[in-house]
Amino acid sequence: MYTHRNGLLCLTLALCSTCVQADDVEKAVDYRQGLMNVYAHNVAPMGNMVKGKTAFDPAAFARYAKDLAVAARLDLLAGFPEDSINDESDASDTIWLDWSKFQKKYEALKIQSAKLSKVAADGDKAAMKEQFGKTAKTCKGCHDDFKD
Ligand code: HEC
Repeated sequence: MYTHRNGLLCLTLALCSTCVQADDVEKAVDYRQGLMNVYAHNVAPMGNMVKGKTAFDPAAFARYAKDLAVAARLDLLAGFPEDSINDESDASDTIWLDWSKFQKKYEALKIQSAKLSKVAADGDKAAMKEQFGKTAKTCKGCHDDFKD
């Protein structure tokens, strides 16, 4: 009777710990994809202004640039615990094989988006366009290496 119960208990615990792990991966994926979507929400309208698809509105541009810089400072790396990949994720497993390179790519985003926010606050359109290009490159720079 006792052995039985213990066996059942072990089985339950084993199952639960797998559940918790899968749940942790899902939370991490949701978190980092959420951050990416916040980035994109701000980058897309700035890109449209830079490309001339929409009228250039320096005040709106400055708000998007500021929000991007703020979002970039939220801890993206916390969304990438080791080997956290599931079916919903496009993350490449090379992230954890070359973590220091991944960190550098993230640093580049923080640095360039902070500059963009500063430049945009000054309102010089040519400088804004140039710095937007540098910032957008940091997105692509990471995706090329670390996104499937
Ligand atoms: C340090 C690396 C890195 C940087 C910098 C980066 N990304 Fe990503 N991005 C990723 C990875 C990895 C994924 C895949 C995440 C996943 O699906 O688990 C991703 C996914 C995305 C997605 C898809 C999200 C979804 O819901 O599936 C969008 C949109 C995106 N990134 C936009 C951006 C934009 C815009 C920037 C620049 C402002 C940016 N990213 C900068 C690594 C990065």
